[in-house]
Amino acid sequence: MRPAEAGPPSRVLISEDELRARVAALGQAIARDYADANPVLVGVLKGALVFMADLIREMPIEITMDFMALSSYGSGTRSSGVVKLAADLSMPIDDRDVILVEDIIDTGRTVSYLKRNLETRHPRSVRLCALLDKIERREVEVDIHYLGFTIPNVFVVGYGLDHAGRYRNLPYLAVLDHV
Ligand code: IMP
Ligand code: MG
Repeated sequence: MRPAEAGPPSRVLISEDELRARVAALGQAIARDYADANPVLVGVLKGALVFMADLIREMPIEITMDFMALSSYGSGTRSSGVVKLAADLSMPIDDRDVILVEDIIDTGRTVSYLKRNLETRHPRSVRLCALLDKIERREVEVDIHYLGFTIPNVFVVGYGLDHAGRYRNLPYLAVLDHV
């Protein structure tokens, strides 16, 4: 095995226990709001996978699960703002209540693109659920209906989030320095 090029993440920002408690509260809040609605939860691959898996298990209601994937250009730590759909939903969402599930909102460009894209399909409603909000970096206004944590302007990995494809499987969120 090749040694890693960069050092491991330097410090825990949000622990497993903190994630578990907050994600449970979010799931329960969504379940209350959508008790009889059978909402379509749309996870944004790959970053939202871990969050979504935990979130839906806190929702004792009927739900539908689907995914979208975006291709980003390069493996940099900043999104270019230019996003392209790499994989689309597997079903129509007209007249459905949709909840877009994202890992992190940074500039806001990705999620506003996705929201506009979903709205062209005439869903009944679209709300956004995000685990993390890096509010200092916002360039486009975004209305986050269900939010896990606001974080400072640091680069985080773990719990689904990566740097160049690595660290998604850490069970906690850590800060990656020097990126
Ligand atoms: P936005 O379009 O700038 O809001 O970009 C959001 C996307 O950038 C997220 O879905 C992530 O893929 C990525 N991203 C932004 N900040 C981080 C971070 O701190 N760690 C890992 N990925 C990040
Ligand atoms: Mg993402």
